[in-house]
Amino acid sequence: MNWKTLRIVGVCTLVIASNMITMSVLAGDEEAVAGPTLYERMGSSDGITQIVEDLIALHQKNPAISHYFDDVDLDRLATNVVAFLVAGTGGPANYEGRDMTSTHSEMGLSVADFDSAVADVLTAVKSNVNDDDVVAEVAAILESLRPAVMGTAVTDSAGS
Ligand code: HEM
Repeated sequence: MNWKTLRIVGVCTLVIASNMITMSVLAGDEEAVAGPTLYERMGSSDGITQIVEDLIALHQKNPAISHYFDDVDLDRLATNVVAFLVAGTGGPANYEGRDMTSTHSEMGLSVADFDSAVADVLTAVKSNVNDDDVVAEVAAILESLRPAVMGTAVTDSAGS
């Protein structure tokens, strides 16, 4: 290979490499752009399953809210909460449970109940994941769900 050919091959390689980076950015390849998803940082399916198992145990021991779980099918609850978290953090699951308002609307939850349940979630996350950013991101997601869970979300009654 002479110098001219070598130069052309070199330029082509650079162009192809830069195109590949552009394509992965345009395709929204999150790994290439922003690192692992929250789902992955929570330990993927196995990690989230363990968090939910710990969470349900904490709820059952929490005197402020344990009574809500007395007559609940805990296996079904665990399956649905795992799927909810997996789907909501960028994982592959489909959530097939009920929406947050219908699920909780008949419970008459107080603000203190909500805060106590969230504290249990964060305790379960902290005991499984040693990453303050993960804990903060989960806290923010739960906070964003407060209006739906408490039934105070503003809905557009005109349906427009
Ligand atoms: C951001 C906060 C919350 C989230 C993301 C959440 C999420 C969920 C999900 C995904 C389910 C499963 C729904 C289904 O099976 O169809 C569920 C069920 C349930 N949640 Fe929550 N929840 C939250 C707050 C609370 C609070 C504050 C309480 C009570 C203190 C609570 C008590 C329950 C109970 C008792 C069930 C079982 C309902 C049933 O099967 O009849 N949740 N929740």
